[in-house]
Amino acid sequence: MSDKSSCLSWRGKPFLHFVGSELGEPFIAFFSSLAVIMKVLLINGSPRGKGNTYIALSEVAKALQNNEIETEIVSIGAKAVQGCIACGKCSETGRCVFNDALYNEVRAKIETADGLVVGSPVYYAGPNGSLCALLDRLFYSSSAYLQYKPAAAVAVCRRGGASATFDRLNKYFTITNMPVVPSQYWNSVHGRLPGEAANDAEGLQTMRTLGNNMAWMLKNREAGNLPLPEREAPIRTNFIR
Ligand SMILES: Cc1cc2nc3c(=O)[nH]c(=O)nc-3n(C[C@H](O)[C@H](O)[C@H](O)COP(=O)(O)O)c2cc1C
Repeated sequence: MSDKSSCLSWRGKPFLHFVGSELGEPFIAFFSSLAVIMKVLLINGSPRGKGNTYIALSEVAKALQNNEIETEIVSIGAKAVQGCIACGKCSETGRCVFNDALYNEVRAKIETADGLVVGSPVYYAGPNGSLCALLDRLFYSSSAYLQYKPAAAVAVCRRGGASATFDRLNKYFTITNMPVVPSQYWNSVHGRLPGEAANDAEGLQTMRTLGNNMAWMLKNREAGNLPLPEREAPIRTNFIR
């Protein structure tokens, strides 16, 4: 009997170990040949469910689909969204104390998604308040589901503030160990009235490039199948003077 040992990994984590058997290699080859369906969740932060942010995100989604990646756009809608109250309970339970349908829905979808795109209309040179209210609670309570998933922000405005909005949204990703997907420009699309974004040819091309780049990153990650990086125990310092 051979003393070979082999291991099948799933998304960078050991999944099945074969010890002392020749069976492992063909089994691994078979499983590796199966197509893995990956999915990207796109969050539309605009209260206008089918406005300009939706147009921008749809262009990203189309490019992803052209690369055999599944997509889903979730709109946060126009209802009031609860913000974070800094109670700290999520650090004990892993969930936000507010058990609202929007939080639960988006959190469940993030859990199973392989990548994340967050789209926001620009309000006073930043992401809109309802979106930030949701993202604060999601990211504070759900980093375990978010980390290492490729992510991108998309800002949609009439004229100015897209870069500041883009920067602000990227802050959620880069504090959560999420690789940020690039494009050919800072991800923004221009338009005021719903539908106007469809006329921004450069903005939409930037969206398509973003979708193609995200698909490329996801496929590289899947093909490489490397274990996730080792993490040090967190060190926290508070600067009080
Ligand atoms: C409260 C509010 C603030 C806005 N602030 C800005 C701004 O700072 N810069 C800008 O260019 N457009 C601003 N806009 C315009 C929106 O960003 C623009 O209409 C965008 O297309 C809306 O996207 P949506 O259709 O997905 O909601 C603002 C709109 C609203 C309602």
